[in-house]
Amino acid sequence: MSIEQATSINEVKDFANMTDLEKKHVPMIHIGGTPRAGEFFEVTVWVGEQMAHPNEAEHHIEFIDLYLDDRFLSRCDLTWGYTDPKVTFSVRVDGPGRLRAYERCNLHGDWTNSVELSL
Ligand SMILES: [Fe+2]
Repeated sequence: MSIEQATSINEVKDFANMTDLEKKHVPMIHIGGTPRAGEFFEVTVWVGEQMAHPNEAEHHIEFIDLYLDDRFLSRCDLTWGYTDPKVTFSVRVDGPGRLRAYERCNLHGDWTNSVELSL
């Protein structure tokens, strides 16, 4: 059973036809440069790139997590009003895999997105 099946994490159904809810919540993943095994590279995860997400006490993004396959890499906790849900992680991996980002909205739950990492 995958993580998505176990905990009902939201994903974009069709990237060519995203709803406004999906645009506000999908964690977009950007890989910097040309990653190589065993060397640090940057991964930026941006929630609200497609459409700005609210950033106030009543409605905000709580954290952004980054995984490679099932391996946890890092988490960034966010403080509404003071931090933008756009985070750059510096990571080092041993080989290719699927980079997966998760984010939690205090009103709309958990969302994920992923990209293939080729080294
Ligand atoms: Fe939200």
